[in-house]
Amino acid sequence: LLLSAPSGVLQVSPLEAPSPLPIRFSLIIPTYNERQNIEAMVAHLSQLLDPVLPGEYELIIVDDDSPDRTWEVAQTLLVAFPQLRVMRRQQERGLSTAVVRGWQAAQGEILGVMDGDLQHPPEVLLQLLAAMERGADLAIASRHVKRGGVSRWSLLRRLLSRGAQVVGLLLLPGVVGRVSDPMSGYFLVSRAAIAERELQPTGYKILIEVLGRGQIQEIAEVGYVFLERREGESKVTGRQYLDYLHHLLRLRLTHGRGGRFRELIPLKQFLRFGLVGLSGVVVDMVVLYLLHDASTLGLGLTRSKILAAEVAIINNFFWNDAWTFADVAQQQRGGVARFRRFLKFNAVCLVGLVLNVLLLNLLFNQLQLHYLLANLIAIAVVTLWNFWVNLKLSWRV
Ligand code: GDD
Ligand code: MN
Repeated sequence: LLLSAPSGVLQVSPLEAPSPLPIRFSLIIPTYNERQNIEAMVAHLSQLLDPVLPGEYELIIVDDDSPDRTWEVAQTLLVAFPQLRVMRRQQERGLSTAVVRGWQAAQGEILGVMDGDLQHPPEVLLQLLAAMERGADLAIASRHVKRGGVSRWSLLRRLLSRGAQVVGLLLLPGVVGRVSDPMSGYFLVSRAAIAERELQPTGYKILIEVLGRGQIQEIAEVGYVFLERREGESKVTGRQYLDYLHHLLRLRLTHGRGGRFRELIPLKQFLRFGLVGLSGVVVDMVVLYLLHDASTLGLGLTRSKILAAEVAIINNFFWNDAWTFADVAQQQRGGVARFRRFLKFNAVCLVGLVLNVLLLNLLFNQLQLHYLLANLIAIAVVTLWNFWVNLKLSWRV
């Protein structure tokens, strides 16, 4: 009566076409100590899905041998709910792997996951299914789009949730940045999008893994309100936050650069840009000396400084074009393109200079920092600004 738990590589196989089975949609419900929720959950889902997908869906409860014997309660429901399947895992543990194991045993072309504690409103499923029918590869229930939200979360929990998202954005902008709610545990994905891709999820965030390793083009998002738990308790602890970080880093490291695994700040180029910037400081100093010093030209200080800064900018452009961003310069050859890059670089650096002066004043006058410390911070910020804007504007691929 129980589905046996697959073992080995966490990988879904493609369906043999044409599929002899009528099942089109398989929804995984991972559970751990949810005996009080499971019947209402299954009843609600059956009521919802029977009219739209009669006999064509399956609900797969994947229980990790819960001490409260959720799997046993689930088993008693099998007679009343013919679309229900139950998997009891006695070896492996964890939410994410439970989901993948469920998908491995599933027969549908559309795969899904939803919490087993009624915190995910079942009605949203119909909208998610409709999005999949319209051709989405992935349909996510999101708390952060129209009609989405959380019911009664503390400020701390909101901050933690958003903080996790920002960290994800910094580490993996090409993955986490594709959706409004990368932490969602309520979504549908087409089997084709993840078939034959080895998944290595840790902790809770299976969606990150699907986004990172799947072949996903079309994404749809549907707003939902994350409801409060009525029975049982959440299994989230500080451990899940660590798992999440570990997960992000692993995705980051096991993939090549570029594409959706690009970094927000490409370190190698940033380092080169910084070194070129230092060479510019030397040039600026030398030229300022030569122009201003009485024994050479003896120009006024302001005039000398403007000229010195401009020579430094030209110096920096030359090295950045030939070294820091050589790959882009290679692709966009020709005098005109080069001159256009130079004008942009020049403009960005001038804005940076103004920013530098403003920031220095702000930090010194308003925050009462030591002027040298204030200058250091201002330089750091402006270097980032110069790098980032030039990367996006002057040496854009
Ligand atoms: N099989 C199995 N194994 N199930 C588990 C495990 C486990 O180790 N841990 C938790 N579950 C089940 C719970 O029984 C529940 O059905 C579901 O996974 C979610 O667990 P909760 O502990 O209730 O998580 P939450 O409410 O804090 O967070 C959920 O909602 C977030 C927002 O959408 C999770 O689904 C998150 O993934 C999701 O981001
Ligand atoms: Mn929950």
